[in-house]
Amino acid sequence: MQERTGLTAVEGNPLTLVGNELKVGDKALGFELAGNGLESVICRLRRLGGAPPELSASRRCRLIGAARDLRGGGHGILTGRQRAPTTRRKPPMTAMSQVYKCEKCGNIVEVYHTGAGALVCCGDPMVLLEENTTDAAQEKHVPVVEKVDGGIKVTVGEVAHPMADEHYIEWIEVISGGKTYTEFLRPGDVPEAMFPIGDVELIRAYCNVHGHWKA
Ligand SMILES: [Fe+2]
Repeated sequence: MQERTGLTAVEGNPLTLVGNELKVGDKALGFELAGNGLESVICRLRRLGGAPPELSASRRCRLIGAARDLRGGGHGILTGRQRAPTTRRKPPMTAMSQVYKCEKCGNIVEVYHTGAGALVCCGDPMVLLEENTTDAAQEKHVPVVEKVDGGIKVTVGEVAHPMADEHYIEWIEVISGGKTYTEFLRPGDVPEAMFPIGDVELIRAYCNVHGHWKA
């Protein structure tokens, strides 16, 4: 469905045309641009006293002008002059090192470079795997770090996590000094990994049943 956002904000929220439906922020105005065209919409807005009703007369004018812009008229009703196209950079939708999963196919990805778009797989938004949000035994999932000769040893968890075919730790990850270290595990392995580093910024582990965990 085509979505267009106008230059005009109403009460701080952008006016958006989604398909044929006008919205202010998330609020649908109940007016459509289909069929009768923009002039019909403007007439309806005026006849019904504008929308949403709490808007002042000046805000209603801005709304109508913005609706015209969205339709491609290109003239703000308040200024009567051609609006110059603007490019507004969207803030990133993702953050570094976030991990997302597709709930349909099981794809899991980690963000190494942020961007403005949402991550989509199999036609749906991917789900952010926030750490330590699953209702499961913490003592079996929160990684435990121990200093050893030559680096650190990470064990999942305080009580060793199962490593069966149907339930196991898929990986242990350590982020330190701008580097990411990942040890991938298999069923039957011991749920631990060695890393040749000293200081640690973040330690995480992923259980295929109980999700993402961090120390
Ligand atoms: Fe688990």
